[in-house]
Amino acid sequence: MKKYVGYVKKYWYSFLLGPFFMVLEACGEFILPYINANIIDKGAAEGNVPYILENGLYMVLLAAFMMLTGILGANFAIRGSTRLAAGVRRDVFKKIQTYSFSNIDDFTTGSLITRITNDVTQIQNFAATLLRGMFRSPIMLIGALVMSFSLKRELAWVIFAIIPFMALGIFLIIKTASPRYVKMQEALDGLNNNIGETVTNQRVIKSFVREEYEIERFEGRNSELVEKSTSALKVMLFMMPVSAIAINVTTLLVVWISGRQIMVGDMTIGTLTAFITYLTQILTALNFLANIILQGTRAAASDRRISEVLNAKVDLNDDNSSEKERRVTKGDIEFRGVSFRYFKNNTEKVLDNINLKIEGGELVGIIGSTGSGKTTLVSMIPRLYDVDEGEVLIDGVSVKDYSLFNLREGIACVLQKNTLFAGTVAENLRWGNEHATDGELERVCKIAQAHSFVSSFEDGYDTEIGREGSRLSGGQKQRLCIARALLKSPAIIILDDSTSAVDTATDASIRRAFREELGGVTKLIIAQRIQSVMDADKIVVLDEGRVVGVGTHKELMKKCLEYREIYLSQKDEEVEA
Ligand SMILES: Nc1ncnc2c1ncn2[C@@H]1O[C@H](COP(=O)(O)OP(=O)(O)O)[C@@H](O)[C@H]1O
Ligand SMILES: [Mg+2]
Repeated sequence: MKKYVGYVKKYWYSFLLGPFFMVLEACGEFILPYINANIIDKGAAEGNVPYILENGLYMVLLAAFMMLTGILGANFAIRGSTRLAAGVRRDVFKKIQTYSFSNIDDFTTGSLITRITNDVTQIQNFAATLLRGMFRSPIMLIGALVMSFSLKRELAWVIFAIIPFMALGIFLIIKTASPRYVKMQEALDGLNNNIGETVTNQRVIKSFVREEYEIERFEGRNSELVEKSTSALKVMLFMMPVSAIAINVTTLLVVWISGRQIMVGDMTIGTLTAFITYLTQILTALNFLANIILQGTRAAASDRRISEVLNAKVDLNDDNSSEKERRVTKGDIEFRGVSFRYFKNNTEKVLDNINLKIEGGELVGIIGSTGSGKTTLVSMIPRLYDVDEGEVLIDGVSVKDYSLFNLREGIACVLQKNTLFAGTVAENLRWGNEHATDGELERVCKIAQAHSFVSSFEDGYDTEIGREGSRLSGGQKQRLCIARALLKSPAIIILDDSTSAVDTATDASIRRAFREELGGVTKLIIAQRIQSVMDADKIVVLDEGRVVGVGTHKELMKKCLEYREIYLSQKDEEVEA
């Protein structure tokens, strides 16, 4: 709840004026029937035309006043609630930006999207309803009760008889609806996850001709949402009959009782009309209050889901880092007894007691079969994940002691799954450094062997590359990703299988340029092909999360069985090819 107080304070005028105008409007509601009763009893019954005209004019003025205050009230309610929602959305978005990979894995992307959109909207709707009715409904209720008692005390007691029945109905409805709302939001999470995955992976789906399958999968999620929403919303529909029955039964009772009183002259028709109007007002007010409670139930479920996002412990932060000012300079890297697993309850370690020393400026190759932990190993360096045991040191200082900004600023990663964004080549490169000059763009592109193909485009560096670089080939994208990383002028650069789609000759040119142009930069190159790392200063061989060999190509050929196996298997392939 605390998170909303700030916004209520910030937009206090809406939160004050909304209810204020609604209360003014409510005051009109119970004066109106009073004038009406007078017109019927004093004006119409006695044929007093000037009286009717005068009071008719009051009614018109009052109605205009109510319309104006009603509009103003609704307007401020909308302003207040939409701004509140915008603020909460911003907070949730900001919080998600601080999330680590494992935080996001825990929630799933779909669920985060539902929470930041649909769940915030539930809060907004509730706030709007609350602003319109929180004072208006109680005042209408009390006002109409007082008015009806002053009109005809004996009759007013009838109203009290009906209130417990309505209260019971509302209680039962809320009790049933509340858990169903939670299920409904969860079904929406599932659907959003599905949409996110399929829409971003259209290319893969198309190339495997899996559209039919994906549509079916979507249908499944979609019907689940329909089922869960129906189950939740149909409970709400009971509200209508419950209040309709209440209104009708009470009206019948009132007419029945007052009919006899009117016949004996104890009561006038005007009084009865006014009384029935007040009765309707009372039940409408009760209905609105019930609605506030119902929407509140729904909003509470959403509020819990939003709080989960806001209160999630970001398991990776630099709050306790002791050398916030330190920057990565030399690029020495050391792994000391590092172990890691993705799922903490899993016994299988993805990295198992890794000890490794890399000197600043070295070119290090990392090789191993798929799933051996290469990507995981390098993820520890910029702290994409935190180690479970041991520590990773850069320039002799634990990565946890750098500020995340300085750490990641000093390390450039070209990840296995990398993305470019819609825009021009130059815009994409400047992600690495927004102030880079054209000359610098050209320099890094030359190292990454991207300059020649970029200059061959008609618009050169101003060529639009399409969404996620869709107008480029795989190898071209990879080379631009490398260039973008270089533009950061990092102390350490990590290429995770980043030249897999590049031909062998270009691959070799990239490495040569790396060696010649990036002498002082520590270069970690993960590769599938031994050929890509053969000339490295040092090659690290990984197998099932362990380092099974470190050395040059020659040394490893002599002493490392796993390395020799990889070498021989690739040699065979070459002969076959
Ligand atoms: N985000 C993740 N969540 C859970 N398990 C993962 C994740 N990424 C990788 N793994 C698992 O960790 C192991 C090592 O993966 P990875 O480091 O990607 O290997 P490599 O890069 O050598 O192919 C694999 O068994 C893989 O299934
Ligand atoms: Mg990998």
